[in-house]
Amino acid sequence: MSQTKAIIETEHTYGAHHYGRLEMVVKSTEGCWLTDMDGNKFLDCLAAYSAANQGHHNPKIVSALTDALNNNYASVISNVVYTEKLTEFLEKTAKTVPQLGPRFGDHPNKVLPKNGGVESVETAIKAARYYGWKSKGIDDGKQEIIVFSNNFHGRMTTVVSFSSSEKYKKGFGPLTQGFKIVEYGDLEATKAAITPNTCGILVEPMQGEGGMNIPPEGFLKGLRQLSDDNDLILLFDEIQVGLGRTGKMFAFEHENVIPDAVILGKAISGGMVPVSVFVANGKLMDLVFQPGSDGSTYGGYPLACVAGIAALDVIINDKLAERSAEKGAILKEKIEAIAARSDCVKEVRGLGLFIGIEVKNGDAMEYCRKLLELGVLANDSHGHTIRISPPLVINDEEIEYLCERLEKVLVG
Ligand SMILES: Cc1ncc(COP(=O)(O)O)c(C=O)c1O
Repeated sequence: MSQTKAIIETEHTYGAHHYGRLEMVVKSTEGCWLTDMDGNKFLDCLAAYSAANQGHHNPKIVSALTDALNNNYASVISNVVYTEKLTEFLEKTAKTVPQLGPRFGDHPNKVLPKNGGVESVETAIKAARYYGWKSKGIDDGKQEIIVFSNNFHGRMTTVVSFSSSEKYKKGFGPLTQGFKIVEYGDLEATKAAITPNTCGILVEPMQGEGGMNIPPEGFLKGLRQLSDDNDLILLFDEIQVGLGRTGKMFAFEHENVIPDAVILGKAISGGMVPVSVFVANGKLMDLVFQPGSDGSTYGGYPLACVAGIAALDVIINDKLAERSAEKGAILKEKIEAIAARSDCVKEVRGLGLFIGIEVKNGDAMEYCRKLLELGVLANDSHGHTIRISPPLVINDEEIEYLCERLEKVLVG
């Protein structure tokens, strides 16, 4: 039996079936490339759902981490004491995000660090609910948050409770109450969903898992207005689309709309260790969280912070948001030209290096499997759309490599 087959079989024996898998075993990674057990190379057009924006094994992040490990500065200490790296990471993150929630005053952003993205989504939900109770006088237990169709915010119990996808929540009840699902992009429906118990709105400024959807122009601005008019906490989940992915540092900058709080994850550590953060206007953060009301053993531990500092430095200093805008425009134009020659493409949409190719037969994985045979890793978004989201360090030669293969798969 080949090593590849043996690894897959062993994983099937001992691992839970939590993801639909492509038949590939990765041995090493570098930049935009993955190498399998037999030495075959694949251009990574998934970038771990944006976690590897800086390119796999980015040398600056690797060297920051190895320095920390070699200098005994890595293990969990506990947040009951301070560490220099946590302080540095919090300050850098707070200052990288534009001043949030100006309606609360000019209080510097504050940051609450966690591990996986969904943990910070739950933190955001707690923040909006607490604000609703403490500041708006909503009865505790009656708070409502508005969310949107085709949302994806992770897979823990509370978060799947408001998924519009049955498969994420069926059989996992009792589900968490307090959410109203509204059509993504529909401002009138959002307005109609607001009640005296509404405390917040949670939205992805662009949807990744939901089909690579850009909201209609004015939607985010409208949500800002509704939040201001009704004293709601406007929460943007930028876990997948933030940190340069869409050609701006944050996707909300395309519409110049400032939320009250933002959730970041994935690329905030450059794909090296799990890190996520909830960032809010300092006044809001101080109102909601007091010692004991939140916390996480690994959240903000030194190794995470070392990775986070280096990962943010790479995005800022290497101008990866600008690069995403430039290379994304080139790639999208080429994909649109391929789509115009193809009988199977329904629509191409995206911003920066966040491009979806919706296929007419609704089975994007069929095309992803063919791409894999040709040396490209991509996967579907919402079944019907091929997601093209390579590391933001992709160069022109690699874009050419990808487009040659897209041409073969989509045109023939
Ligand atoms: C927009 C968004 N929110 C939340 C999450 C959940 O993040 P994690 O898988 O790190 O928990 C994801 C993951 O894909 C995401 O894309």
